[in-house]
Amino acid sequence: MDIEQKIQDLKKRIAEAELGGGEKRIKEQHDKGKLTARERIDYLLDKGSFQEIDKFVVHRCHDFGMEKNKIPGDGVVTGYGTVNGRRIFLFAQDFTVLGGSLSEMFGQKICKVMDLALQNGAPMIGMNDSGGARIQEGVMSLGGYGEIFKRNVWSSGVIPQISLIMGPCAGGAVYSPALTDLVIMVKKTSNMFITGPQVIKAVTSEEVTAEELGGAMTHNTKSGVAHFAEDTDQAALDRVKEILGFFPQNYREKPPVLPCTDDVDRRDEGLNKVVPTNPKLPYDMRDIIRKVMDNNTFLEVQKYFATNMVVGFSRLNGHPVGIIANQPKFLAGCLDINASVKCARFVRMCDAFNIPLITFVDVPGYLPGVNQEYGGIIKHGAKILFAYSEATVPKITVVTRKAYGGAYIAMSGKHLAADVNYAYPTAEIAVMGPEGAANIIFRKEIAEAKDANATREKLIEEYRDNFASPFRAAEVGYIDAVIFPEDTRPKLVNALMMLQNKKTSIPERRHGNIPL
Ligand code: HXC
Repeated sequence: MDIEQKIQDLKKRIAEAELGGGEKRIKEQHDKGKLTARERIDYLLDKGSFQEIDKFVVHRCHDFGMEKNKIPGDGVVTGYGTVNGRRIFLFAQDFTVLGGSLSEMFGQKICKVMDLALQNGAPMIGMNDSGGARIQEGVMSLGGYGEIFKRNVWSSGVIPQISLIMGPCAGGAVYSPALTDLVIMVKKTSNMFITGPQVIKAVTSEEVTAEELGGAMTHNTKSGVAHFAEDTDQAALDRVKEILGFFPQNYREKPPVLPCTDDVDRRDEGLNKVVPTNPKLPYDMRDIIRKVMDNNTFLEVQKYFATNMVVGFSRLNGHPVGIIANQPKFLAGCLDINASVKCARFVRMCDAFNIPLITFVDVPGYLPGVNQEYGGIIKHGAKILFAYSEATVPKITVVTRKAYGGAYIAMSGKHLAADVNYAYPTAEIAVMGPEGAANIIFRKEIAEAKDANATREKLIEEYRDNFASPFRAAEVGYIDAVIFPEDTRPKLVNALMMLQNKKTSIPERRHGNIPL
């Protein structure tokens, strides 16, 4: 072949590889409302930035007639490119090739980009759409999964890892996404489960559809496995771009600061009225968050799961921050097992990537109940203490109303090395609520009183006036300042800027032993 023929040959090979499983299967993919692997990559990356690796890799299987069924690329597209000018590495499983099933070589391709991402300190984005282990390859494909899981773990806390679930994701294949920082599922077209509906029916006689068992809303509302549910592939990829804006490239860097277009001194009188005068009335903590943050924006993470706890990202003076807040609108904002796990994992993710923490507190305590105790609220609740205590990023806390008992400490109390602790005048910081406290410490007086009810009410009111306030805590420096709610934004911006050069560490060890 002369050079012209060689160039034509290369073009033919490229075109063949880029066609994946062929026109018919691409149409089937589109008919399901899904983009192909290459379309997804095109949509995610800056135009023209994609550099593909291993386009001509094929499998090495000779069983089941597989030697006659080789498609260049072997069912996964891998490489690197940029998103808004910043480098990322990626893989996109191609369902049109043998159902996107994972072979030995498919696994090796993913491992190669994961190694590059880790060595070069850039985020790794995985697009999952696969029938799982390639059945014809047996243990070779299991080995491939194992190699990927190990790299997920080695990359954890070093580079951001984001998983998109854009089709089936079953069996042990779900564990790679589960090991990453954030999981985004596409509604109706994606599912995740360890064993599918047929196996479950055979083993436990339970009947359930794939969507009910492992669809996007199941994992966003019930299991907490996923962090986002999006309507389309495009919306899921847009979400990745938005999320990346809050993260640094790796743990050695600070997250990217954007020019701030909102007034850092903006006061909002509306904040004086968000917390109701009656401590029993609920309100939406997100109203406070939005009023305070740059341009009133807030990207909520896991918004359908454990709704008594709110977590998410925003910016203050252009600096990314992680927000954690009790939500009085649900379960009075109390801490239960799911809320504890949601909070602790988010705190640790932010701390791993140098994202400062802003915590808004209105918490009556841990949720009482036999199920909670049997479910291990002790060890799960302890996760919050662990996560906040080990976090060394700037930590700023605002108590808007209740901060009682152990939950007062857990929600980024001064004692867990929070840097700046503010309270609204409406704050109630005490060992327990006035009703419980008065009933215990004035038990005798109430029992001996002529009108027990009136006496109880009077004593509760006295307790509330004297102890259910921010001032006892402020007198001993557990609260640094009692602030006017309308000043929250300037106060937070000031504290965050003061903490820009914060340097602190916790005792050296191999690693902590968080209660799992
Ligand atoms: C080889 C596979 C495959 C697999 C699908 N295909 N999954 N080939 N290995 N795991 C092939 C199909 O044979 C078919 O090829 C093509 O991909 C498209 O699949 P369809 O079944 O036509 O698509 P659809 O109807 O959309 O169903 C998708 C599916 C189903 C739900 C994913 O294919 C399925 O149930 N696949 C098997 C899932 C599974 O049991 N995987 C192994 C899990 S165990 P043709 O040529 O006929 O069109 C596992 C262990 C991992 O993954 C452990 C890690 C630790």
